[in-house]
Amino acid sequence: MPDSPLERPNPYLLDRVMSLADEAEVYANEDIYTESGMKLLAQGHKLTRALQEKLALHKLQRPLVQTLGVQGGVTREAISLLAQTLIEEQPMLEPICERGGMHALAESLKFVPLDQVSLLMLTLAHRSAGEAMRHAVLVTMVALGVARRLASPAADLPVIAAAGLLHDIGELYVDPNVLEGGHVVSPDEWRSLALHPMIGQRLIRDTTTLGEQMARMVAEHHERFDGSGYPRGLSGPSISRAGQLLAVAEMTVGLLHKALEAPIRLDLALKVISSGHSSEITGVLREVLANEPTLQGIPLYTVPNVLAALNRFIMSMEAIQAALSQAEVDADNINSRELVTDAEARFYAVQRAFLRTGMGSVPVYEITSALFGAESDDLIEAMGIVEELNWRLRDLARFVSLRTGLLLPTERNGLDTLLRALADPLHHGS
Ligand SMILES: [Fe+2]
Ligand SMILES: [Fe+2]
Repeated sequence: MPDSPLERPNPYLLDRVMSLADEAEVYANEDIYTESGMKLLAQGHKLTRALQEKLALHKLQRPLVQTLGVQGGVTREAISLLAQTLIEEQPMLEPICERGGMHALAESLKFVPLDQVSLLMLTLAHRSAGEAMRHAVLVTMVALGVARRLASPAADLPVIAAAGLLHDIGELYVDPNVLEGGHVVSPDEWRSLALHPMIGQRLIRDTTTLGEQMARMVAEHHERFDGSGYPRGLSGPSISRAGQLLAVAEMTVGLLHKALEAPIRLDLALKVISSGHSSEITGVLREVLANEPTLQGIPLYTVPNVLAALNRFIMSMEAIQAALSQAEVDADNINSRELVTDAEARFYAVQRAFLRTGMGSVPVYEITSALFGAESDDLIEAMGIVEELNWRLRDLARFVSLRTGLLLPTERNGLDTLLRALADPLHHGS
């Protein structure tokens, strides 16, 4: 039997299974055996806490999620119903998905091709993280809406829907504390988090009947057309078109979420931060949002909003630059020096972009007086620029965290200050 980590339950997955078993009836839908042939649980019997330790210690003959069933788990009907609710809550969904077509799309989720194992995994994700299911359904709806606008073949829509629902399923393997908002992610934690697309791919490929195309889409949902994504840094056509679509849907949902927290003009925000994605796909969204009359009612930025954001950005840049100079001195081996050099190249690219905007080359008090006389469209544009620059700093933060996670602990000398300086953009950009 091939040695696969899927055979010994991942500790976080096992914790989630046990928590589910505390509140719902989780039972063996077949006899569960250890690799050496010891029967742990007979078919039809309920899973209890008493088995947790044994399950953690032994490799199993089959992945745990394939051997369990649950009473009252997530169903396709429940997913479809949640989609209908989200249409009411998220006014942006309708224009993205064509007026009137939304409800039919939500209805179609009743027939999404999920098998028993994938529904169990969705149940686990849903129960263990409050927002996980809403996020998955939102991403699915946006992906379906954009796919229809791109005239994707009808046969692709069910695959896109299933991949959208399962795209973050690899997070079942991640420490829930790391997933929680407000947690500052350490390099090792970031590395485990950054691998969730690949874990999702393996879970789908090895435990479900959903097929390779869907697994690949899940693996690609944080990749970017320009190569700046993760975990593999794929670029251009090496990312499947369906994977690109899912990545754009993921980004758009991030924006929708932000739009609820603070007023932003989605059309402009999308324009400035979509640079990493395929313009064919983001173009569809930009067109929709730019022509959307309901966006006109969204409150605009004020001068203090823009100035505060600009000041925060400038302070981050100064802290990062100082930390990079310090890291240059402190890095004492070839790997960390290479990391610092690569980080500097990325940092200077952000700095050049800032200077090109004109805002980086004049003193802040001049910008302040310019902004006080500005039209609201100028404020939107200025905020759009700051947002884009912040996104780039967040990419830099992820890059450094990911690369540091790959170094041996003894090779990380001098990188602490840099990671602390970068923690802020990483924290705010999740
Ligand atoms: Fe994700
Ligand atoms: Fe996601």
